[in-house]
Amino acid sequence: MNEKLEKAINDQLNFEIESAHIYLAMAGYVATLGLEGFESWMFVQYEEELSHAKKFIQYINERGGRVNITGFETPRNDFESLLNVMEVSLGHEKIVTARINNIMDIAHEVKDYAAISFLQWYVTEQVEEEDNFSKLIDKIKLVKDAGLYMLDKEVGTRVFVPIAK
Ligand SMILES: [Fe+2]
Repeated sequence: MNEKLEKAINDQLNFEIESAHIYLAMAGYVATLGLEGFESWMFVQYEEELSHAKKFIQYINERGGRVNITGFETPRNDFESLLNVMEVSLGHEKIVTARINNIMDIAHEVKDYAAISFLQWYVTEQVEEEDNFSKLIDKIKLVKDAGLYMLDKEVGTRVFVPIAK
């Protein structure tokens, strides 16, 4: 694989692990609000991010590259509210989307058609990620305290679905 592309993918897989840590810290925060459903939802998000990292790792290995795991930033552990958590999350996912698009640009630059095809999965996934958080932000704004109890139950039913190979 092209060196620049391999480095970009390697950086991103570390960023996915960092994202997992961000959501794990959020699970800890929402638990302090008594929102078990949102805590469970964030654990699922954590697992999803790890699975995104794993998919990149397997790809680098498949292409005969070398994975390099780095140190990680300490995630933010304190927030102002549940809404604040979701707004920070949406902002984070927008950064991830920009990063994925940048890797896609590099793949096009070096005409790596296999990588373009592989990266398309992440492009599609990011649409869903941003949509998930946008919808939650809308719902949290719509419901007040009583409704939040019901929403917490709904959100708590989310299950982790491993990526189909
Ligand atoms: Fe991700």
